[in-house]
Amino acid sequence: MKTVVHVVGARPNFMKVAPIHRALARRGALAQRLIHTGQHYDSQMSDVFFQDLGMPPPDVHLGVGSGSHAEQTARVMVELEKALEKEPPELVSVVGDVNSTLAAALVASKLLIPVSHVEAGLRSFDRTMPEEINRVVTDRLAELLLTPSPDADDNLLREGVEKSRIFRVGNVMIDSLLSARAKAQALPVLGRMRLSPRSYAVCTLHRPSNVDQPEVFPGILRALGAVSQRLPVVFPVHPRTRRMIAKHRLEPLLSSHPSLRLVEPMGYLEFLCLTSQSKLVITDSGGLQEESTALGIPCLTVRENTERPITVSEGTNLVVGTDPARILAEAERILEGRGKQGRVPELWDGRASERIAEVYERFLAVAPATAAKEPGPQPR
Ligand code: UD1
Repeated sequence: MKTVVHVVGARPNFMKVAPIHRALARRGALAQRLIHTGQHYDSQMSDVFFQDLGMPPPDVHLGVGSGSHAEQTARVMVELEKALEKEPPELVSVVGDVNSTLAAALVASKLLIPVSHVEAGLRSFDRTMPEEINRVVTDRLAELLLTPSPDADDNLLREGVEKSRIFRVGNVMIDSLLSARAKAQALPVLGRMRLSPRSYAVCTLHRPSNVDQPEVFPGILRALGAVSQRLPVVFPVHPRTRRMIAKHRLEPLLSSHPSLRLVEPMGYLEFLCLTSQSKLVITDSGGLQEESTALGIPCLTVRENTERPITVSEGTNLVVGTDPARILAEAERILEGRGKQGRVPELWDGRASERIAEVYERFLAVAPATAAKEPGPQPR
């Protein structure tokens, strides 16, 4: 049987790979192997997601851990090359834009194994963002480019990618969200945190451009403190952010705002329980911009740009930058009921993983055991 290797590394990869893995397993035409690079390794950043998403444990764990960009990328490359040479698959499937994604695309393409990039074509046009470099290079190397939205198709076409390699499959992360939402909302998270639905905000921050910058991060925290005087703000803190709070001695600023509630990173289901019932989301995460659009919850993105413009043009997202006064003003607008309305973009429908499976089966010329009901995605 032909084999697809999925490479995962960091937290936002897991909810994208889980539905693809499940769809391919159900259809039964392709064997699969799951390789975890170990970019994220804390149990709350990794293991809990496998449990929550019902994903089998990785077949191979490369254990690369943290480091500078070069160190981390290089370590994934060295270890992944050995794993792929030992048992070469017919296709390597990578998702998103983290260092593990780039490393896997480089290694597989040099071993002449075709690469599929899920979430291809997104662009912030901001090369100061490491993920933008990962996106651009991964897309140059990928044989199959699976896009979530028309803007991504347009970016790829503009960069000279042949239409025949671009497949708009929709947003696979929303497959995970829709299939887990009911189970997540049944969890006792709100009761435990003494919160009631639609009466609190959720915040996440981890981008180096925000949390590593001593001239930016305190201002954002002050804005969150001001928002927390209007409604509780729950802030699950990424390990990088936790380190930066300590490094820049920001604990006193935080402790002066008791309703700004810093908690440990949460698992997928608990966090979905929290976000899906929140009043607003404040974030610098790419995934959360999309999830809040899918949930219809207003989102303020604390960045100067987004590689996910459809969340702004169609969804509930507003890119507000890092000016504390603007963050507070936009949060107040939402609390007054004048927040941005949105709709769910086309093909963010919970079936992206089926469409991805069809593309893989066609590319590898295998027939699924369970025939698809609708015609599969055609190249652009
Ligand atoms: C990575 C991705 C980013 C993604 C984010 C989601 C890149 C370039 N960045 O950023 O696109 O949005 O994941 O979380 O790939 N750490 C731990 N435990 C862990 C993992 C990390 O303590 O399990 C700490 C370490 O101190 C590490 C730091 O967090 O040095 C940063 O981790 P890293 O994987 O380099 O980048 P993220 O900021 O998580």
